[in-house]
Order: sequence, then structure tokens, then C-alpha cells
Amino acid sequence: MGDTAKLTAGGGDYEFPMKSGTLGPDVVDIGKLYGKTGMFTYDPGFTSTASCDSGLTFIDGEEGVLLHRGYPIGQLAENSNFMEVSYLMLNGELPSKDELDNFEFTITRHTMLHDQLRQFYQGFRRDAHPMAIMCGVVGALSAFYHDSTDISDPEHRKISSHRLIAKMPTIAAMAYKYAIGQPFMQPDNSLSYTGNFLRMTFGVPAEQYEVVPEVEKALDRIFILHADHEQNASTSTVRLAGSSGANPFACIAAGIACLWGPAHGGANEAALNMLREIGTPDKIPEYIARAKNKDDPFRLMGFGHRVYKNYDPRATVMQKTVREVFDALKVNDPVFEVALQLEEMALNDDYFIEKKLFPNVDFYSGVILSAIGFPTEMFTALFALARTVGWVAQWNEMISDPGQRIGRPRQLYTGPTTRDYVPIAQR
Ligand code: ACO
Repeated sequence: MGDTAKLTAGGGDYEFPMKSGTLGPDVVDIGKLYGKTGMFTYDPGFTSTASCDSGLTFIDGEEGVLLHRGYPIGQLAENSNFMEVSYLMLNGELPSKDELDNFEFTITRHTMLHDQLRQFYQGFRRDAHPMAIMCGVVGALSAFYHDSTDISDPEHRKISSHRLIAKMPTIAAMAYKYAIGQPFMQPDNSLSYTGNFLRMTFGVPAEQYEVVPEVEKALDRIFILHADHEQNASTSTVRLAGSSGANPFACIAAGIACLWGPAHGGANEAALNMLREIGTPDKIPEYIARAKNKDDPFRLMGFGHRVYKNYDPRATVMQKTVREVFDALKVNDPVFEVALQLEEMALNDDYFIEKKLFPNVDFYSGVILSAIGFPTEMFTALFALARTVGWVAQWNEMISDPGQRIGRPRQLYTGPTTRDYVPIAQR
């Protein structure tokens, strides 16, 4: 597109090129803004800033659309599986039967951890949060897999990507086992990616573990729903860390650290805790009133999203999945009723309507994960497990881009102006 954006500022007129993607808003290319004008843009929280080109995921927040490589998330969640979606994210196209078999074979062959890594776990307190353990252990992978850390070598990048996707379930399951004092379970390569994770988490060496197909399907679907979400905080963290040439294990550890925050991946844990605290539907109005009160820091967890100003399409699938899991496991948890009624009340409340606050993916995911048997501390670890696919795909996309440079935002300085050092005796 030949359009340009005109800027009048600081007594000058400037023109900047515009760029169009295949979908979504056009962008003003301000890469030369500082060189031309001596000014920076100011956009804390990056609400209006595109930080990269990407062909992976598209979100239309106003319409509630989420596409991975062009495929709507609802179709992927309904018809695909997590391994196929992982292949799609990494390679750009859905696999043929042979391609998928080969991919699953490769991932399966990387599921074990270097045996020495087990000793890392003993260094953590038993009550350590699984995300603290994940952060440490994933970062430590770079000390064990030197043969895949040369980021300029596409083969190294591929192997490290496969290793990360394959080992994440083992690492997460071991974090859980360590916390409850049960022996680590080794992967069983005859199971699916998700079935294997369930067995490593809930199985014990003394007994045969039977994977419940409905649970396996539901968890696999949850993994699909969390696989990628374009340039969110943790993905941008992975990209920024990777832009310096840091190895992929270190970059993914940085992503895990960012994801842990309650405004991001920690929200499903916070959402379930909130639903349990509410406890019964009659308490809902009290909590809605608190969420609306400007003097109360309380927010409805699992509500609102930086990008979605409509129903999060992932939340729709989640709500359906809750029912399936509850039916399969014959669970009757009042928390689901609280969630349904809270959603209905909030969606009919002017405050939430005006601010376009809708349930996000985290609103229902905690309810399902809890029904399956995961303790709340594991929720974010499961999110990290699934999001590893997106992080790795985004990291690969960035490194393969010949125009990639180190990420280096600028600032609006508001500190003291130049002043002379004062010796301590005179202060
Ligand atoms: N409850 C009550 N009010 C809310 C909520 C909420 N959950 N979310 C936003 N608001 C209000 C804010 O108070 C603000 O009001 P104001 O304009 O009167 O000041 C307005 O809506 C806009 O909120 P911001 O925080 O500016 O919106 P932002 O896009 O920065 O935040 C966020 C998005 C962080 C997700 C926010 O909605 C929130 O904190 N939600 C709860 C946490 C949560 O569920 N996070 C999960 C995100 S999804 C994910 O990470 C997978």
C-alpha cells in the first residue's frame, strides 16, 4: 500500500510509510522517527505498538476471533489435537498423516530428562511453587543440552524446540510429584502427549494408570487453547530475551517467569480462588460491587482482556469442556454454578458492558483443571507447558527473520536533571 502517515510535530512536517498485513489494522512504520525528528513515540504497555511481523496467530479482539496460521481456534479445538496444532505452529501447515506420525515420534523420543536434572529438584523446598521450579529447571536445560544451543544453526533450533515441547510435561509433572513426595514417573512412550502427562502426574509406580479418554481429550483441548496468543507479555518476553541471541532454554525460562504473574498466566489460579471464596451464588452481588468500586483494588479475575473486547473465543470452548469433564468424572462442584451465575450477572451489568469486560480463557479453565485433580498451584504450570509451543514457534520465527535486531525500547525520562555528586559528609 502506498499510503503514508503525516506527522506535524516540533515545528516540522514528516511522512512515514504505512504497512498492511493480511488481516488486522494497518501500521505506521515509525522505525525512522527518531532519526528524522529526534522524537520517540510514547506507548507504555504497548497498547498501540506492533513489535514485529508475525504469520503465526491473528486476534481480532473486537470480534472475538482467534486464528492460528489462519485456522479458527474453535475448529482446532473441536477437530484437531495438541500435537497437530504444535506441528502447525512450528511448520505453518497442517501435517500429512506421515508428517504427524514422524513429529509425534520425535517429540516422544525427547520426553525423558537428563538423569542429573533430577537432582535439581532436591534443591527446592517441597512447598516451592511449581512455576519457580519450572523456571529454574527449564533455564538449567541449557547447561545440559549444549548440542542444541547454537541459534544460528537451524538444526540446533529445531532440536531445541522439540526438546522444549517434549520435556515440558516431564518437568511439570516432576514439580508436582516433588511437592507431594511421590516418586517421579518416567514417561511412557506408548501414550499420547497428554495421556503421558496425566500418567506422569497422577500415576504411581505401584499401579497401572488408566487414562480416562474424556479427561485426556479435555486436557488436550486446554493445551490447544493455550498454545499461542500472539504478542502477549510472556511471548514478548521470550522474543525480547531471544533478540539478544540468548539460547532458547534461557528464553523460555524468561517466558515462564513472566507468565507466572497474576495478571497473565496466574489468573486461572486467581479466578478459581475467587470463585471458591465467593462460594455460593447469593454472595455474587457483593463481589461484583467490589469489582466496580474504584477504591477497592479487587478485580473479577478471569474477566477482561487487553485485546478481547468481546467474548474470548477460548472461553466459549472452555465452558463446554467443563460440562464434559464434570459428566465424565461425575463431579458436582458448586463452583461451576457460581461461575455461570457470576458470568451472567456481570454480562448484564452496565459497568462490565461499558468497559467491554467479558470472561477470558482463565475464567473456566481453573474449574476444569481442579475437577481433573490438579491443585491450583499447577494451573499456571500447565499453561506454561502448552504455551511453550507458541513461545518456541515465535522465537523461531524471530530468529529466522533476516531483519531481526536486538529489542531496545526507549523511554520518557522523568528523573533528576544533571547534578553534581555530593560527598557523604556534606549530605
Ligand atoms: N474487574 C473489574 N474491573 C476491571 C477488570 C476486572 N477484571 N478488568 C479491567 N477492569 C477495569 C479497570 O479498572 C479499568 O477501569 P477504568 O477505565 O475505570 O480505570 C478498565 O476496566 C480497563 O482496565 P485496564 O486494566 O486498563 O485494562 P488492561 O487492558 O490494561 O487490562 C487485564 C487487561 C490485565 C487482563 C485486566 O482486565 C485484568 O486485570 N483482569 C483480571 C485478570 C485476568 O483475568 N487476567 C487474565 C488475562 S488473560 C491471560 O493472561 C491468558
